[in-house]
Amino acid sequence: MNLKSFRVYAKYKSLLIGSLIIGTIVACKELVPDPPADDQILDGPVDGLSGEQKIKFLRGDVAFNDDIFTQETGLGPLFVANSCGTCHAGDGKGHPFTTLTRFGQNDANAGNTFLHFGGPQLQNRAIPGFQPEQIPVGATFSNFTPPANTGLGFLEAVPDAILFALADENDANGDGISGRINWISVPPYCLIRPGTIIKNGKYIGRFGKKAAVYDLLQQTANAYNQDMGISSSYEYFNTYDGQEVDPEVANQTVLDVVFYLQTLKAPIQRDQSNPEVQAGKHIFITINCAKCHIPQLQTGDFPIAALANKTFFPYSDFLLHDMGPALDDGYTEGSALTSEWRTPPLWGLGLSKNSQGGHYFLLHDGRAKSIEEAILLHGGEAQSSKTAFQQLSPTDKGKIIKFLESL
Ligand code: HEC
Ligand code: HEC
Repeated sequence: MNLKSFRVYAKYKSLLIGSLIIGTIVACKELVPDPPADDQILDGPVDGLSGEQKIKFLRGDVAFNDDIFTQETGLGPLFVANSCGTCHAGDGKGHPFTTLTRFGQNDANAGNTFLHFGGPQLQNRAIPGFQPEQIPVGATFSNFTPPANTGLGFLEAVPDAILFALADENDANGDGISGRINWISVPPYCLIRPGTIIKNGKYIGRFGKKAAVYDLLQQTANAYNQDMGISSSYEYFNTYDGQEVDPEVANQTVLDVVFYLQTLKAPIQRDQSNPEVQAGKHIFITINCAKCHIPQLQTGDFPIAALANKTFFPYSDFLLHDMGPALDDGYTEGSALTSEWRTPPLWGLGLSKNSQGGHYFLLHDGRAKSIEEAILLHGGEAQSSKTAFQQLSPTDKGKIIKFLESL
């Protein structure tokens, strides 16, 4: 059974059981919705997985979406939510209700000096008998709305050399747009990729809104630990008191979730042949949006064949950019300055509303309620591109928005 028919089957089965319980054998078939088209949903695997890989994907899917942790299974003592899927519903962007807060300080050279106060993440919930954390006096903080987590295996498979070549830290080409790598320390459990570029003992960060994470294993281990208070043998200290504890999630489960994230398909563009969409893309390139939101990138060799040596269309360079004072929260991660953010991929943008309750909540903290508002909050290195957008005619602005909604 392929994955889609498996899911339809699962839905059909649960409806069947439900209708048997209430004793009415209604026409179940009519109740079962047709599966949505592949380009309308973010969930689902990349093409080209083997049978065994599909099973691993499904195991990861279940652990990601259906493993709801309780006090008995290790939740907390301090936590933010009780499953990955709570914050990443349908693998799409999260709602402000699921926003989390990180705290630290505004000096990127100091490391996070609030780690011993439970930082960087604010665990604002606790099991009975424990006190949730509060932001310590003197700390700065930033709110993060969950991003969609689709297509990230492609990003993991991009050779360091490509990101390194895209960076233009000192703006040598004088276009006002630099693009910087967040050089980070990597925990010992990360598998260092062949071809990794190391500078002064630091590695290229590519995941997270401040690009402070090396790979999807680190992202996942951090999420179990910091978001749910679930320790693994990768991150085995207790978020409450820093003591070592027995792992509460099996390594195999962590690795299944990593595999699930690696092999979630990239969002599929819709309406590509619509002339307005095509015109919008052209304007997007002309006014330099595409200098940061780079349309396409290339993967290199990778252990998962379905991801190796592929072209993909993220509309991001995954580098840090100074976005100006309006987006400066005074919070740093790794060497990322307070006003610097990793260019978010724009793929899947048009589907964001589906998982955000029918409204857009864009930018790192969901403060922009429309695509246009997100653009108008750009500053810093994106100032001149933003100004060019403001000077467009309403029709041309509409074309750009239409293009962005097709992604
Ligand atoms: C409390 C809500 C919450 C929970 C629970 C949660 N996440 Fe996240 N997740 C976030 C937020 C917010 C971000 C953005 C953080 C950042 O970029 O630094 C994020 C980012 C991510 C990313 C994307 C990184 C990128 O580069 O785009 C992945 C992948 C991810 N989480 C996986 C997981 C996994 C796996 C779990 C469960 C083990 C999980 N998350 C649990 C809120 C959550
Ligand atoms: C200098 C690099 C740069 C340029 C140029 C740029 N952007 Fe961005 N863009 C970013 C960064 C970085 C963010 C994230 C900022 C944040 O989250 O606070 C962003 C966020 C966005 C978002 C919100 C995405 C989301 O998922 O929340 C949209 C939409 C967007 N940009 C569109 C555009 C358009 C259209 C243009 C051209 C007018 C443009 N950008 C030019 C770097 C850039």
